[in-house]
Amino acid sequence: MAENTDLMDKIVSLCKRRGFIFPGSEIYGGLANSWDYGPLGVELKNNIKQLWWKRFVHMRDDMVGIDAALLMNPKVWEASGHLSEFNDPMVECKNCHERYRADQIDTNAPCAKCGKKAFTEVMQFNMMFKTNLGPVADEKSTVYFRPETAQAMFVQFKNILDTSRKQLPFGVAQQGKAFRNEITPGNFIFRTREFEQMEIEYFINPKDNWNKHFEYWLEQMKEWLKDLGVTKNLEFVEIPDGERAHYSKRTVDIEYKYPFGQKELYGLAYRGDFDLSRHQKMSGQSLEYTDPQTNEKFLPHVIEPTWGVDRSLLVTLLEAYREEEDRVYLSLPPKLAPYKVAVFPLLKNKEQLVSKAREIYNDLRQYFNVAWDDRGNVGKRYYSQDEIGTPFCVTVDFDTIEKDGMVTVRNRDTKEQPRVKIEELKNYILGKL
Ligand code: GAP
Repeated sequence: MAENTDLMDKIVSLCKRRGFIFPGSEIYGGLANSWDYGPLGVELKNNIKQLWWKRFVHMRDDMVGIDAALLMNPKVWEASGHLSEFNDPMVECKNCHERYRADQIDTNAPCAKCGKKAFTEVMQFNMMFKTNLGPVADEKSTVYFRPETAQAMFVQFKNILDTSRKQLPFGVAQQGKAFRNEITPGNFIFRTREFEQMEIEYFINPKDNWNKHFEYWLEQMKEWLKDLGVTKNLEFVEIPDGERAHYSKRTVDIEYKYPFGQKELYGLAYRGDFDLSRHQKMSGQSLEYTDPQTNEKFLPHVIEPTWGVDRSLLVTLLEAYREEEDRVYLSLPPKLAPYKVAVFPLLKNKEQLVSKAREIYNDLRQYFNVAWDDRGNVGKRYYSQDEIGTPFCVTVDFDTIEKDGMVTVRNRDTKEQPRVKIEELKNYILGKL
């Protein structure tokens, strides 16, 4: 366990040191477990999101995407049940007023902050973030930042159906920010109050075998985890009757054994027609689907696979982290690496090496994100690129110019250094991606 906590510390430190993730508002002393993605973090995060979009939207005939506003009519949250039900049980220490999730601590034990044993009764704390629309801050102007991306896909169901002309079964996908006023955020980017989700609402005919679709999506989620390089430390947990949301006939939590314990990574739920029927009732607008063959009208049912972007990034880093005697490296799947390739001139004061390397750098940049490095010696540059997970380092040396028109391509994981013809470099790297 000590070793594992150590791994978390190493990841947090590497993220800060190399520009993946910084503490939010750091120069002002930070802000309650908020984190900012730095120059390399934004690349890794975008690569994860793009890979997901490609897999689940672009490569499929039965999927369309949307990108909805963060602020929605408050009636959305009334209909979805978030205003009344989206609560966490909370207790407060009567002495120091520290607040805790009642389901995460022993409420008969002393307060971890002040040591006194004086907790309040369990209260329900609503996690919705409030703000006001326009200049007057009153009840009528109160709106909420969305706590999940899901609802817009139900609210826009009719528009999506009318414009995309999809037939059941089909899905709607969305990526974006969600906000939850978590009582106890923590464990780096695992639980924050502002985070990103990638969600799919997959609409099916209620007469269809929903469990077949459910099993299919469970398999898809496993396939996705392979894309991230995450094949170990996973548990697929069936949520038993009585613990699921009342409208869900089946829920599977995909959990990961983080260094701080086994906790949720993703979720998969069969939600029936709960959301569409609630929005239909609340809005007074029909959200029914008309079967083109039978002309029958009905509300589709939905299977909802949901992914957290930040947790995806965290588990990707945890699984990619490697230590060897002489180096630390991130064995990231090449598609996800912030830089696909780094280009170096062997010596930075030799003009012909620098200009050839620059030429190669500028050419490759058209196809991938490429790093340029001419500091220190080649060994140091390898060390630096290994630590951020760059799969290939290309070095231009005297032989490149004087003899063979070839460059050394050093492989991050194997440390092999084949020589490759400059004209073949792009395809060589593409082939490895
Ligand atoms: N629409 C269903 C839904 O939102 P959820 O399990 O509450 O389900 C989905 O959230 C995913 O969002 C989680 O599996 C997790 O990956 C991510 N997530 C939830 N709360 C989070 C938080 N406070 N910080 C970071 N990620 C979070």
